[in-house]
Amino acid sequence: MERTRILREMGLGPVWKLRAVPAEAVLDVGEPQPASIPLAESVPVADLNPPLATAPAMPGSPATGMGWAELAAAVSSCRRCPLCQTRKQAVLGVGDVNADWLFVGEGPGAEEDARGEPFVGQAGKLLDNMLAAIGLRRGQNVYIANAVKCRPPENRTPTPEEVAACRPYLERQIELLQPKLIVALGRPAAQTLLQAEVKIAAARGKLHDYRGIPLVVTYHPAYLLRTLLDKAKAWEDLCFMKRSMPTLRGD
Ligand code: URA
Ligand code: SF4
Repeated sequence: MERTRILREMGLGPVWKLRAVPAEAVLDVGEPQPASIPLAESVPVADLNPPLATAPAMPGSPATGMGWAELAAAVSSCRRCPLCQTRKQAVLGVGDVNADWLFVGEGPGAEEDARGEPFVGQAGKLLDNMLAAIGLRRGQNVYIANAVKCRPPENRTPTPEEVAACRPYLERQIELLQPKLIVALGRPAAQTLLQAEVKIAAARGKLHDYRGIPLVVTYHPAYLLRTLLDKAKAWEDLCFMKRSMPTLRGD
C-alpha cells in the first residue's frame, strides 16, 4: 500500500464513504475492500480492569457549577499546568451543546491552537470524514472536545499530570452535555475518562462506562493517518458506535 498515494487520496478528500445501509457499509480507500461488517446481535460490554483510582468528586474542582460561558472563560485564563506557557489560546471544544454524541481527542495541534477550534487540521479532516460516514456532521448533534485544552509543544503527547490538571474541565463539559455516547479517540482521552490503563486494541469494540454514560474507544485520527492498516479497524469501530447508539436512546 503506497503511503503517499493513499494520503493524497485521503487528501484529504472523502475517505469514508457509506455506500449502502450501515449493515452493508464498505470503506472506500481505493484498496481491496474489507468485508461487510455484520450487525452484531448484541453489543459486548467491556470487561476492563477495575479503575486505578476513583475520580475526585467535583467539589473542589475548578469547574464546579460552571455554565458554558464561565467554563470558556476559566479555560482561556487557566494556569493549572505548564501548557499555559506555550499556548496561543486554550481550545475548550466545539459543537452542539445538546448533542447525543461527544468525541474526545487528545489536545490541540498547531492549527487548533491558532484557530481556537478542535480538530481543524489534517486529523480534523479525517475526523469529519469519519463523522460523515456515520451520518454525523460537526456542530449537529455532535460535540468535539479534547483531553487537554492547550496545545502540547511540538504536538507531543500530554503528560499524565497535564491531562489530570485539565480533567475537571472535561468532566464539567460532560456534566453539561449529558451525551448519550462518548467516543474516546486514542489513549489519553480513554485513560482520563476511564481512569484506567487502556490499550486501544483491547478496549475497542466494547461498551465502557463513564459515570453512567456509555463510552466507546477507538483509534485517534492522527494515528490512523500514520498507520493506515488500522483504518479497517476504525471502520469497524464506527459501525459499532453507529449501531450502539440506537440501543442507548430512550426513544
Ligand atoms: N488532535 C486532537 O487530539 N485534537 C485536536 O483538536 C486536533 C488534533
Ligand atoms: Fe489549564 Fe488545561 Fe490549559 Fe493546562 S491544558 S493550562 S489545565 S486549560
